[in-house]
Amino acid sequence: MVHSYWAYLVLALLLFTVINALLSAKKEYKDKDLRLGLFTLIVSHIQLVIGLGWYFMSPAFKHFKEDGMGATMKDASARLLTVEHPIMMILAIIFITIGFSKHKKQTTDAAKFKTILMWYGLALLVILSRIPWGQWFN
Ligand code: HEM
Repeated sequence: MVHSYWAYLVLALLLFTVINALLSAKKEYKDKDLRLGLFTLIVSHIQLVIGLGWYFMSPAFKHFKEDGMGATMKDASARLLTVEHPIMMILAIIFITIGFSKHKKQTTDAAKFKTILMWYGLALLVILSRIPWGQWFN
């Protein structure tokens, strides 16, 4: 349940950070922009920890252990929950981490916003593509 509700926070913040970077291309990079990127990074890392903890207790993992890799990969919804969702979410959080670290090293305000836009934007697309939407809204 925590993972399910925390996901709203991750998505809202990530979306807000991407839109902020998109609309700020020609603006001055301020403290609030740094805090926004950092907050999104922290919240997504917390989601990673919750997700990893939940993974090994989840019904999806139980079936995976019982049925084996072959059966899981043949079933699209089992594959999404056991393989695609965790791997792609970890990849997205890696993108956010790279983006945050790279943007800090940029020397111009425009380059900082562009770096955030690229990496956080990529993470957002990856996350949106592999959320178990049907299960989330059920
Ligand atoms: C940005 C990161 C992530 C987001 C936004 C996210 C979001 C979600 C959402 C919305 C659901 C559906 C919740 C529901 O059923 O109500 C879900 C389920 C799940 N997620 Fe994540 N997740 C993330 C990362 C991870 C990671 C890193 C792992 C594991 C390594 C993970 C493991 C799981 C598992 C095991 C389920 C449930 C499967 C089941 O109920 O059988 N998630 N996630």
